[in-house]
Amino acid sequence: MSKRLEGRIALIMGAGSSQEDNGVSNGQAVALTFAREGATIVAVDLSLAAAEKTASLVREQGGTSIAIAADVSRAEDVKQVVEQATGHYRRIDILHNNVGIEYLGGPVDTPESEWDRVHAVNLKSVFLACKHVIPHMEAQGGGSIINVSSTASLRASTETFLSYSSSKAAVNHVTRVIAAQYAGKQIRCNAVVPGMMATPHVRTLYRHLDDDQFKEVMARRDASCPMGRQGSPWDVANASLFLASDEASYVTGLLLTVDGGRSI
Ligand SMILES: NC(=O)c1ccc[n+]([C@@H]2O[C@H](COP(=O)([O-])OP(=O)(O)OC[C@H]3O[C@@H](n4cnc5c(N)ncnc54)[C@H](O)[C@@H]3O)[C@@H](O)[C@H]2O)c1
Repeated sequence: MSKRLEGRIALIMGAGSSQEDNGVSNGQAVALTFAREGATIVAVDLSLAAAEKTASLVREQGGTSIAIAADVSRAEDVKQVVEQATGHYRRIDILHNNVGIEYLGGPVDTPESEWDRVHAVNLKSVFLACKHVIPHMEAQGGGSIINVSSTASLRASTETFLSYSSSKAAVNHVTRVIAAQYAGKQIRCNAVVPGMMATPHVRTLYRHLDDDQFKEVMARRDASCPMGRQGSPWDVANASLFLASDEASYVTGLLLTVDGGRSI
């Protein structure tokens, strides 16, 4: 049986993990899943070590990957990433915008600088990546863009992180507007909207807690999900694989919620 992404070039922004050696992140799971289905992975991360770790995980499993360090909230970095990727491989078939950071706080306790930083990393990065990748997709006759959002974009979440919620809500609408503009060019643009996921990053979010307190938080997170458990990075990866593949060739502008029914 042929692989679902055979011969495709996938550019994954935020392909590393913010908590190495603590399980697989969303970006790593996406990279490994896309590679297993035949894609070549361009792993981009703020941290070169994190990008290289993902690239080496892919290679260990028999895949092909290069690593590039870049701050995807910076126009010059994104331009250079796209130039390097297309310099190596001549095309970009899949753009996966996985970068996301948060600042805990509402309108009163969020400093203006943090509001701006969260929007630059979560939202402007999507704009910049699309700005530089879409011309290549247009020239090659199509492509698939997948933006990673969050159910915090749809409803008030347990944790208050207004800037995160706002930036992800904007990512949803940017996804749909780009989908509408580029459907005629065969460029599909969709979002994966994860709910509560048990990723290594959750430990970063609760870094102020000791290990026992953190275990309690994770148990509470599991219990708050209708299925009695949080999702995993592989759930995000499998949804992304569907959106990247030809099985989704008539799917664009979709906000694909992956939350085990929690936001219903
Ligand atoms: N973990 C969850 O529960 C959850 C839920 C909903 C949505 N998400 C979303 O999933 C995505 C990934 O989450 P994760 O849990 O794997 O997080 P993670 O922090 O482990 O991975 C994100 C990666 O992005 C990189 N990064 C951060 N800023 C960057 C920048 N400016 N330029 C380049 N790279 C940068 C980090 O170094 C890290 O390796 C995010 O968009 C997040 O908002 C996560």
